[in-house]
Amino acid sequence: MVNLGPKAPPQRRGSLCYIPPAIHERIEHYEKLFGVSTEQLKKITEHFVAELDKGLSKEGGSIPMNVAWVLDYPTGKETGKYLALDMGGTNLRVAEIILNGDRTFDVVQSKYHMPANTKTSSAENLWGYVADCVGKFIDQYHEGATDQLMMCFTFSYPCTQESIGHGVLQRWTKGFDIDGVEGHDVVPMLQSALDERKIPVKCAALINDTTGTLVASNYVDPRTKMGCIFGTGCNAAYYDVVKNIPKLEGLVPDDISPDSWCAINCEYGAFDNEHVSLPRTKFDDHLDKHSPRPNQQSFEKMIAGYTLGEILRLVLLDEFEGGNIFEGQDISKLQQPYVLDAAFLSKIETDPWENLMDTEALFSEELGIETNESERAMVHRLCELIGTRAARLSMCGVAAMAKKMNMESAHAGADGSVFNKYPYFKQRAARALADIFDWGDMPAEDHPIKVVAAEDGSGVGAGVIAALTKKRYESHKSIGIKGSNLDFSK
Ligand code: BGC
Repeated sequence: MVNLGPKAPPQRRGSLCYIPPAIHERIEHYEKLFGVSTEQLKKITEHFVAELDKGLSKEGGSIPMNVAWVLDYPTGKETGKYLALDMGGTNLRVAEIILNGDRTFDVVQSKYHMPANTKTSSAENLWGYVADCVGKFIDQYHEGATDQLMMCFTFSYPCTQESIGHGVLQRWTKGFDIDGVEGHDVVPMLQSALDERKIPVKCAALINDTTGTLVASNYVDPRTKMGCIFGTGCNAAYYDVVKNIPKLEGLVPDDISPDSWCAINCEYGAFDNEHVSLPRTKFDDHLDKHSPRPNQQSFEKMIAGYTLGEILRLVLLDEFEGGNIFEGQDISKLQQPYVLDAAFLSKIETDPWENLMDTEALFSEELGIETNESERAMVHRLCELIGTRAARLSMCGVAAMAKKMNMESAHAGADGSVFNKYPYFKQRAARALADIFDWGDMPAEDHPIKVVAAEDGSGVGAGVIAALTKKRYESHKSIGIKGSNLDFSK
């Protein structure tokens, strides 16, 4: 039996509804397939720590461990007004952040939907759309502005950064697939789209959402040592020490002390791209093979919101093909890749009815499939298993950062749709951390390492990082590797 964590929903299977032995057998098969034992979690975590180290080495590894050039912890006393632009996986957000200097802040923001076709269109289309959204925000809140406004851009994709004002996209993730951006610095691309439209905004810093989450959460809660995103994609950031980053050897300007802190955007969605550690299934292999970037983001593809629905869809199709479920039904809708999203699983997991009536309506309305009670019991159990596997595996990354930095106690600020909306994720994650660290039945509130709801990294975090960067610039301190300092004031 797979450990579902303390607040797992009651098991309907075997209660009111009769489950035929054939379905029962299939459920048991999936319990074994998707279950991740404590021993497995510990082993994966061990390998994860080694891979984090490898990513920092000169030779590098699968996990990029991108140096994020945030070289200070916030003091909480930061002040000022900063523009922030957030391009995540699903929406686009433009915000103005006001830091009050006492660990509090105010935010004014507008959200824009990211049309699906923008994600696979051309670079010109993408940057044009993004710049237009910034333009709308400026028209609304800074009408007539002529002086250039400073903006921090949260670009939540893996980037190599020589300084905080620079970011070469290593590869698209989360289903984006736009030619002509990978391998290029995205800051000048966005800047020219802004300039062409005469929008008085200077993109002065580029950050990842995890770095923003780390800094925003630390700004309000100094116990925060990690920033994580469990959303469309998955990733985390933490602070390391410059002298412990071998790949920076010889590149760091003299005014950055070897003992200085430096935020690292791990990009650990790429963990186990070699497929040697994670308990992969044929469904994970199929999903990867048919994704825009096969053999990349292996860890992310098993746990992120972007793929949870697809994993369920592949299992259901396989069961249909094996003649075990949906006999005689038209499954054409279910045959569409990515037709199911993580919200679909969430709704099933929180179906309050003993006979899973909400699940029945979902299948009927969204997929045109009429289900019987035992099929629904099976689907429900599959969602629990896929959701639990995601939560448990997610914690290997958090535990690995904590072990690597010998953290005895810490908060990991977490954000993202899976963390915030997926039922039981938090409880399952806490259970997994307790398993990895042998905390037994210690109440979750006493766990030395806790994953807690983060402050808004892409907004507040961007604001605080802009303030930290401005301060460094004003005191003539470096903000990148030798020779890469930018004039933050221009
Ligand atoms: C990206 C990361 C990002 C994460 C969460 C991943 O797909 O590569 O840069 O932090 O998603 O948004």
